[in-house]
Amino acid sequence: MSRAEVFAHPLLRIPTPADWIAAAVALPDVLLIDHANCEKKAASTALALMFAYAEDLELTGKMSRLAREELRHYEQVAKLIRSLGVTPRRLAPGRYAERMRRLVAKTEPRREVDLMICGAFIEARSCERFAALAPAIGAPLRDLFQGLHHAEARHYKVYLDLAGRAAKRARVALQPRVEEFAALEAELITSSDPVFRFHSGPPGQCSGC
Ligand SMILES: [Fe+2]
Ligand SMILES: [Fe+2]
Repeated sequence: MSRAEVFAHPLLRIPTPADWIAAAVALPDVLLIDHANCEKKAASTALALMFAYAEDLELTGKMSRLAREELRHYEQVAKLIRSLGVTPRRLAPGRYAERMRRLVAKTEPRREVDLMICGAFIEARSCERFAALAPAIGAPLRDLFQGLHHAEARHYKVYLDLAGRAAKRARVALQPRVEEFAALEAELITSSDPVFRFHSGPPGQCSGC
């Protein structure tokens, strides 16, 4: 049975395509540099949410712990970048997070629901990619990804719980909105992507850019 046939995930519709895994194995430097960027971005998103919802101590407490954990992940990735002799360089972000963010409502109370759903998908895809990469990629990246896999599974549940709570308060039906994000996420993960990044689709032309 193929990975697609056995794939079952509470949020994600589609497993990472084999072509993306092959590109990741072939481009470990880009993978690691973009992964480091993702960890920094995850921390800065959590901090931004602490400012946006400062009156909500449950949310700010969870986001504070999340930001600290993401920065520790960044330090682990940066340590590996240094020990492998990878030359750090600036990489423009891929399309994934920006396109997911475009679906987020501009006004409250729907905006909070959407931001939490969006966070849940980004964390869930990271978790799924670590699990998919670990058996395909050699040490020491394999060990790092295996170690991070469980943390990202916890993170997507934190966001999903916050999404459920925000939806209840806003009297918004959560599941139909989750389905809308799931459809967009599946499209981004399966459609050809001109740029290889941690959350990119299968490589099109110019995959190492
Ligand atoms: Fe992380
Ligand atoms: Fe995370």
